[in-house]
Amino acid sequence: MAEIIIDGKAVAARVRAEVAADVKRLGQLGIEPGLAVILVGEDPASHSYVGMKERDCAEVGIRSFDTRLPADTSQGALEAIIDGFNEDAAVHGILLQLPLPGHLDAESAIARIAPEKDVDGFHPVSIGRLVRGLPSAHACTPEGVMELLRAYEIDPAGKRAVVIGRSVLVGKPMALLLIEANATVTVCHSRTHDLPGVCREADILVAAIGRPEMIDASYVKPGAVVIDVGINRVGDRLVGDVAYEDVAAVASAITPVPGGVGPMTRAILLKNTLAAAEAAGR
Ligand code: GUN
Repeated sequence: MAEIIIDGKAVAARVRAEVAADVKRLGQLGIEPGLAVILVGEDPASHSYVGMKERDCAEVGIRSFDTRLPADTSQGALEAIIDGFNEDAAVHGILLQLPLPGHLDAESAIARIAPEKDVDGFHPVSIGRLVRGLPSAHACTPEGVMELLRAYEIDPAGKRAVVIGRSVLVGKPMALLLIEANATVTVCHSRTHDLPGVCREADILVAAIGRPEMIDASYVKPGAVVIDVGINRVGDRLVGDVAYEDVAAVASAITPVPGGVGPMTRAILLKNTLAAAEAAGR
Protein backbone atom coordinates (compact mmCIF):
# COMPACT_ATOMS: atom_id res chain seq x y z
CA MET A 1 0.00 0.00 0.00
CA ALA A 2 1.22 3.54 -0.74
CA GLU A 3 2.98 5.15 2.22
CA ILE A 4 0.91 8.29 1.80
CA ILE A 5 -2.80 8.56 0.98
CA ILE A 6 -3.15 12.21 0.03
CA ASP A 7 -6.10 13.60 1.98
CA GLY A 8 -7.71 16.29 -0.17
CA LYS A 9 -10.60 16.73 2.23
CA ALA A 10 -8.26 17.69 5.04
CA VAL A 11 -6.14 20.02 2.88
CA ALA A 12 -9.27 21.67 1.45
CA ALA A 13 -10.62 22.20 4.99
CA ARG A 14 -7.33 23.85 5.97
CA VAL A 15 -7.47 26.12 2.87
CA ARG A 16 -11.08 27.09 3.71
CA ALA A 17 -10.10 27.91 7.29
CA GLU A 18 -7.23 30.10 6.04
CA VAL A 19 -9.55 31.87 3.58
CA ALA A 20 -12.12 32.43 6.37
CA ALA A 21 -9.42 34.02 8.56
CA ASP A 22 -8.27 36.25 5.69
CA VAL A 23 -11.87 37.24 4.90
CA LYS A 24 -12.17 38.44 8.52
CA ARG A 25 -8.93 40.40 8.17
CA LEU A 26 -10.17 42.08 4.95
CA GLY A 27 -13.48 42.81 6.69
CA GLN A 28 -11.59 44.99 9.16
CA LEU A 29 -10.39 47.03 6.16
CA GLY A 30 -13.98 47.34 4.93
CA ILE A 31 -13.56 44.80 2.13
CA GLU A 32 -16.12 42.02 1.72
CA PRO A 33 -15.07 39.56 -1.01
CA GLY A 34 -17.86 38.77 -3.47
CA LEU A 35 -18.19 35.96 -6.01
CA ALA A 36 -20.71 35.92 -8.86
CA VAL A 37 -21.56 32.52 -10.32
CA ILE A 38 -23.46 32.42 -13.61
CA LEU A 39 -25.25 29.18 -14.44
CA VAL A 40 -27.06 28.76 -17.75
CA GLY A 41 -29.49 25.89 -18.27
CA GLU A 42 -30.49 22.83 -16.31
CA ASP A 43 -27.43 20.54 -16.26
CA PRO A 44 -27.92 18.64 -12.96
CA ALA A 45 -24.19 18.27 -12.24
CA SER A 46 -23.69 22.03 -12.76
CA HIS A 47 -26.61 22.84 -10.44
CA SER A 48 -25.13 20.58 -7.81
CA TYR A 49 -21.62 22.18 -8.14
CA VAL A 50 -23.06 25.69 -7.96
CA GLY A 51 -25.06 24.79 -4.85
CA MET A 52 -21.86 23.52 -3.20
CA LYS A 53 -19.98 26.69 -4.19
CA GLU A 54 -22.69 28.81 -2.56
CA ARG A 55 -22.40 26.79 0.65
CA ASP A 56 -18.60 27.14 0.62
CA CYS A 57 -18.88 30.91 0.18
CA ALA A 58 -21.32 31.15 3.09
CA GLU A 59 -18.98 29.08 5.27
CA VAL A 60 -15.95 31.35 4.74
CA GLY A 61 -17.82 34.68 4.63
CA ILE A 62 -17.63 35.39 0.89
CA ARG A 63 -20.73 37.10 -0.46
CA SER A 64 -22.49 35.19 -3.30
CA PHE A 65 -24.11 36.88 -6.28
CA ASP A 66 -25.67 34.04 -8.16
CA THR A 67 -27.54 34.17 -11.43
CA ARG A 68 -29.37 31.24 -12.91
CA LEU A 69 -30.39 31.77 -16.52
CA PRO A 70 -32.72 29.67 -18.69
CA ALA A 71 -31.21 27.25 -21.24
CA ASP A 72 -32.40 29.42 -24.16
CA THR A 73 -30.54 32.53 -22.97
CA SER A 74 -28.99 34.43 -25.89
CA GLN A 75 -25.29 35.28 -26.18
CA GLY A 76 -26.19 38.97 -25.91
CA ALA A 77 -28.19 38.47 -22.72
CA LEU A 78 -25.41 36.37 -21.17
CA GLU A 79 -22.76 38.96 -22.03
CA ALA A 80 -24.96 41.74 -20.64
CA ILE A 81 -25.05 39.87 -17.31
CA ILE A 82 -21.26 39.50 -17.42
CA ASP A 83 -20.89 43.22 -18.19
CA GLY A 84 -23.07 44.03 -15.18
CA PHE A 85 -20.85 41.97 -12.85
CA ASN A 86 -17.72 43.46 -14.46
CA GLU A 87 -18.96 46.90 -13.44
CA ASP A 88 -20.21 45.93 -9.98
CA ALA A 89 -17.56 46.94 -7.41
CA ALA A 90 -18.99 44.48 -4.84
CA VAL A 91 -18.18 41.55 -7.18
CA HIS A 92 -14.50 40.55 -7.11
CA GLY A 93 -14.76 37.22 -8.92
CA ILE A 94 -16.95 35.97 -11.78
CA LEU A 95 -17.33 32.28 -12.53
CA LEU A 96 -19.21 31.21 -15.63
CA GLN A 97 -20.19 27.60 -14.97
CA LEU A 98 -19.25 25.30 -17.86
CA PRO A 99 -20.40 23.60 -20.00
CA LEU A 100 -22.73 26.16 -21.58
CA PRO A 101 -25.70 25.07 -23.71
CA GLY A 102 -24.51 24.28 -27.27
CA HIS A 103 -25.85 27.43 -28.95
CA LEU A 104 -23.67 29.69 -26.78
CA ASP A 105 -20.07 30.68 -27.56
CA ALA A 106 -18.13 29.90 -24.38
CA GLU A 107 -14.85 31.37 -25.68
CA SER A 108 -16.41 34.73 -26.34
CA ALA A 109 -18.28 34.73 -23.01
CA ILE A 110 -15.14 33.85 -21.03
CA ALA A 111 -13.18 36.57 -22.83
CA ARG A 112 -15.89 39.05 -21.85
CA ILE A 113 -15.11 38.60 -18.14
CA ALA A 114 -12.84 41.36 -16.80
CA PRO A 115 -9.45 39.61 -16.48
CA GLU A 116 -8.99 40.81 -12.89
CA LYS A 117 -12.30 39.10 -11.99
CA ASP A 118 -11.41 35.79 -13.69
CA VAL A 119 -11.26 33.49 -10.65
CA ASP A 120 -11.38 30.37 -12.87
CA GLY A 121 -8.09 31.15 -14.61
CA PHE A 122 -9.75 30.45 -17.97
CA HIS A 123 -9.50 33.96 -19.45
CA PRO A 124 -6.96 34.30 -22.30
CA VAL A 125 -5.17 36.99 -20.27
CA SER A 126 -4.83 34.67 -17.24
CA ILE A 127 -3.55 31.82 -19.40
CA GLY A 128 -1.23 34.14 -21.29
CA ARG A 129 0.20 35.45 -18.02
CA LEU A 130 0.70 31.88 -16.78
CA VAL A 131 2.58 31.01 -19.98
CA ARG A 132 4.74 34.09 -19.45
CA GLY A 133 5.44 33.15 -15.82
CA LEU A 134 3.59 36.20 -14.46
CA PRO A 135 1.23 36.22 -11.47
CA SER A 136 -2.36 35.35 -12.42
CA ALA A 137 -5.38 33.37 -11.25
CA HIS A 138 -4.63 29.70 -11.82
CA ALA A 139 -7.31 27.24 -12.96
CA CYS A 140 -8.77 25.76 -9.79
CA THR A 141 -8.25 22.04 -10.38
CA PRO A 142 -4.58 22.16 -11.44
CA GLU A 143 -3.82 24.72 -8.73
CA GLY A 144 -5.56 22.36 -6.29
CA VAL A 145 -3.10 19.65 -7.36
CA MET A 146 -0.18 22.02 -6.71
CA GLU A 147 -1.62 22.84 -3.28
CA LEU A 148 -1.78 19.11 -2.47
CA LEU A 149 1.85 18.65 -3.54
CA ARG A 150 2.89 21.60 -1.33
CA ALA A 151 0.85 20.27 1.59
CA TYR A 152 2.69 16.95 1.44
CA GLU A 153 6.07 18.61 0.75
CA ILE A 154 6.36 16.92 -2.63
CA ASP A 155 8.62 19.32 -4.52
CA PRO A 156 8.37 18.86 -8.31
CA ALA A 157 11.71 20.64 -8.90
CA GLY A 158 14.00 18.53 -11.03
CA LYS A 159 11.53 15.64 -11.19
CA ARG A 160 9.94 14.03 -14.23
CA ALA A 161 6.24 14.87 -14.28
CA VAL A 162 3.89 13.27 -16.79
CA VAL A 163 0.43 14.75 -17.35
CA ILE A 164 -2.06 12.52 -19.16
CA GLY A 165 -4.64 14.74 -20.85
CA ARG A 166 -4.26 18.03 -22.72
CA SER A 167 -7.56 19.76 -21.97
CA VAL A 168 -7.61 23.53 -21.66
CA LEU A 169 -9.30 23.20 -18.24
CA VAL A 170 -6.84 20.77 -16.65
CA GLY A 171 -4.05 19.17 -18.70
CA LYS A 172 -2.51 22.26 -20.29
CA PRO A 173 -2.58 24.53 -17.21
CA MET A 174 -1.38 21.56 -15.10
CA ALA A 175 1.66 21.20 -17.33
CA LEU A 176 2.38 24.95 -17.14
CA LEU A 177 2.14 24.97 -13.33
CA LEU A 178 4.48 22.00 -13.08
CA ILE A 179 6.93 23.78 -15.41
CA GLU A 180 6.72 26.85 -13.14
CA ALA A 181 7.56 24.50 -10.24
CA ASN A 182 10.69 23.41 -12.17
CA ALA A 183 9.56 19.90 -13.09
CA THR A 184 10.55 18.32 -16.42
CA VAL A 185 7.11 17.90 -17.95
CA THR A 186 5.70 15.58 -20.59
CA VAL A 187 2.08 15.92 -21.73
CA CYS A 188 0.44 12.76 -23.11
CA HIS A 189 -2.84 12.32 -24.94
CA SER A 190 -4.84 9.87 -27.04
CA ARG A 191 -2.23 9.92 -29.85
CA THR A 192 0.79 9.27 -27.63
CA HIS A 193 2.79 6.18 -28.64
CA ASP A 194 3.62 3.74 -25.84
CA LEU A 195 1.61 5.59 -23.19
CA PRO A 196 2.44 3.10 -20.40
CA GLY A 197 6.15 3.41 -21.19
CA VAL A 198 6.06 7.23 -21.09
CA CYS A 199 4.03 7.18 -17.86
CA ARG A 200 6.53 4.81 -16.24
CA GLU A 201 9.17 7.57 -16.55
CA ALA A 202 7.15 9.78 -14.21
CA ASP A 203 8.15 10.63 -10.66
CA ILE A 204 4.85 12.53 -10.54
CA LEU A 205 2.02 11.15 -12.68
CA VAL A 206 -1.13 13.24 -13.12
CA ALA A 207 -4.10 11.48 -14.74
CA ALA A 208 -6.72 13.79 -16.27
CA ILE A 209 -8.23 11.69 -19.02
CA GLY A 210 -11.83 10.99 -18.04
CA ARG A 211 -11.56 7.20 -18.57
CA PRO A 212 -12.57 5.17 -15.51
CA GLU A 213 -9.68 3.27 -13.91
CA MET A 214 -7.61 3.28 -17.11
CA ILE A 215 -4.26 3.77 -15.36
CA ASP A 216 -3.19 0.52 -13.71
CA ALA A 217 0.11 -0.45 -12.12
CA SER A 218 1.68 -1.14 -15.53
CA TYR A 219 1.75 2.67 -16.08
CA VAL A 220 3.46 3.48 -12.80
CA LYS A 221 7.10 3.48 -11.75
CA PRO A 222 7.48 2.02 -8.25
CA GLY A 223 7.62 4.87 -5.74
CA ALA A 224 5.95 7.44 -8.04
CA VAL A 225 3.46 10.02 -6.76
CA VAL A 226 0.12 9.47 -8.51
CA ILE A 227 -2.47 12.25 -8.72
CA ASP A 228 -5.89 11.25 -10.02
CA VAL A 229 -7.94 14.14 -11.40
CA GLY A 230 -10.64 11.88 -12.87
CA ILE A 231 -14.15 11.70 -11.46
CA ASN A 232 -16.19 9.08 -13.31
CA ARG A 233 -19.53 7.61 -12.37
CA VAL A 234 -19.61 3.83 -12.89
CA GLY A 235 -23.01 2.51 -11.84
CA ASP A 236 -23.49 3.99 -8.40
CA ARG A 237 -19.74 4.31 -7.70
CA LEU A 238 -17.43 7.29 -8.23
CA VAL A 239 -14.05 6.22 -9.57
CA GLY A 240 -11.02 8.05 -10.84
CA ASP A 241 -8.90 7.54 -13.95
CA VAL A 242 -6.57 5.41 -11.82
CA ALA A 243 -7.21 1.80 -10.76
CA TYR A 244 -6.71 2.73 -7.13
CA GLU A 245 -5.98 -0.59 -5.39
CA ASP A 246 -3.66 -1.78 -8.14
CA VAL A 247 -1.68 1.49 -8.30
CA ALA A 248 -1.62 2.10 -4.53
CA ALA A 249 0.41 -1.12 -4.28
CA VAL A 250 3.32 0.47 -6.22
CA ALA A 251 2.99 4.27 -5.70
CA SER A 252 4.63 6.10 -2.78
CA ALA A 253 1.71 8.53 -2.55
CA ILE A 254 -1.71 8.55 -4.20
CA THR A 255 -4.91 10.59 -4.21
CA PRO A 256 -8.15 8.66 -3.61
CA VAL A 257 -11.40 9.32 -5.50
CA PRO A 258 -13.46 10.73 -3.95
CA GLY A 259 -11.56 12.76 -1.35
CA GLY A 260 -8.38 13.57 -3.28
CA VAL A 261 -8.25 16.32 -5.91
CA GLY A 262 -12.05 16.86 -5.99
CA PRO A 263 -12.41 18.87 -2.76
CA MET A 264 -9.47 21.08 -3.75
CA THR A 265 -11.10 22.65 -6.82
CA ARG A 266 -13.75 24.48 -4.79
CA ALA A 267 -11.28 25.44 -2.07
CA ILE A 268 -8.99 27.09 -4.64
CA LEU A 269 -11.95 28.99 -6.08
CA LEU A 270 -12.40 30.58 -2.65
CA LYS A 271 -8.70 31.36 -2.47
CA ASN A 272 -8.75 32.95 -5.95
CA THR A 273 -11.79 35.06 -4.98
CA LEU A 274 -10.05 36.25 -1.84
CA ALA A 275 -6.94 37.14 -3.86
CA ALA A 276 -9.05 39.08 -6.39
CA ALA A 277 -10.68 41.08 -3.56
CA GLU A 278 -7.32 41.74 -1.96
CA ALA A 279 -5.84 42.89 -5.28
CA ALA A 280 -8.86 45.15 -5.94
CA GLY A 281 -8.40 46.73 -2.51
CA ARG A 282 -12.10 47.53 -2.18
N1 GUN B 1 -17.46 23.01 -14.80
C1 GUN B 1 -16.81 21.96 -14.23
N2 GUN B 1 -15.74 22.40 -13.53
C2 GUN B 1 -15.71 23.75 -13.67
C3 GUN B 1 -14.85 24.77 -13.16
O1 GUN B 1 -13.86 24.54 -12.46
N3 GUN B 1 -15.17 26.02 -13.53
C4 GUN B 1 -16.23 26.30 -14.32
N4 GUN B 1 -16.44 27.56 -14.63
N5 GUN B 1 -17.04 25.40 -14.79
C5 GUN B 1 -16.78 24.12 -14.47
